Amino acid sequence: MTASGAAARAVAHSNIALVKYWGKLDRGRNLPAVPSLSLTLDALYTTTRVELCPGLERDEATLDGAPLTGPALNRIVEHLDRLRAIAGETARARVESVNTVPTAAGLASSASGFAALTVAGSRAFGLDLDPAAHSALARQGSASAARSIFGGWAALRVGAESAEPVAGTLDVRLLVVVTSAGPKAIGSTQAMLHTAATSPYYSAWTASSPAIFDRAVAALNAGDFSALGSAMEQSTLMMHASMFAADPAVVYFKPATLAVIERVKELRAGGNEAYFTMDAGPHVKVLTPRADATSAARALREVAGVNGVIECTAGPAAREISDEGRLE
Ligand code: PMV
Repeated sequence: MTASGAAARAVAHSNIALVKYWGKLDRGRNLPAVPSLSLTLDALYTTTRVELCPGLERDEATLDGAPLTGPALNRIVEHLDRLRAIAGETARARVESVNTVPTAAGLASSASGFAALTVAGSRAFGLDLDPAAHSALARQGSASAARSIFGGWAALRVGAESAEPVAGTLDVRLLVVVTSAGPKAIGSTQAMLHTAATSPYYSAWTASSPAIFDRAVAALNAGDFSALGSAMEQSTLMMHASMFAADPAVVYFKPATLAVIERVKELRAGGNEAYFTMDAGPHVKVLTPRADATSAARALREVAGVNGVIECTAGPAAREISDEGRLE
């Protein structure tokens, strides 16, 4: 069977790790060295359309209407090659992706991007895969993308091929605090390989992470928001500490990053439950119970260097949607 000429469209939501993935057990297969726990977000997502084009010589891709080239395009071509290999297909594809947040805000997510590409691409190539298979494929594009296949809470365990959903009843909000972006920093793949190769703290990080993960999952099961928040802060600070000790150091923090952390601590001291996490960038993501979210967002918008706060709630799983022709 040939799927040439076929097209499919999918939506996948971004996720934020409370317990961080940082480090690879197996670089070639992109298996994680530490367990991670995330929340998929409703407000941040990528829509991707994949169309097989029999006449095309090379894969083409656009993001928010602009053609991708160089390493960004290569990662997509490699991912399409994985799908082609499974489907026994040779057709080249045209990929169009649109992010809900401006890519320039520094929030463009490889997690939602590779999850959406996996779901749309596998369908366009004629495959009918379950979420675990989608997750295993998405992981090879970007490990955090394995978690975006699932809605709500998701875990990706040490050495795991696929992420898995995690039950949790806490009613939380995640505030994405966008700081003034500054120049583009080093990407997460390069930064984690560099940390693993040069940081004396990397082995302490990988040794400590499973216990932090267990604490966070136990807190989620018990509905203990404060215990979840404190595990979350320890995970991100330990991950960044491993980067600070790399040679040369990798520092994603900007003055506004620290100002937001300070404000979160003040909020907590004032009885407003809020906990922070940072990824491979200067922005801060703040977890609050639903009841505290509006007042926390208001306070965080006033911090110097903050450009905006995006209020998110738990988002749905990645899914195929009806294809209505080319994306704008
Ligand atoms: O999926 P990657 O290779 O872009 O790595 C993501 C790493 C962090 O965002 C910093 C942490 C995480 O678990 O998402």
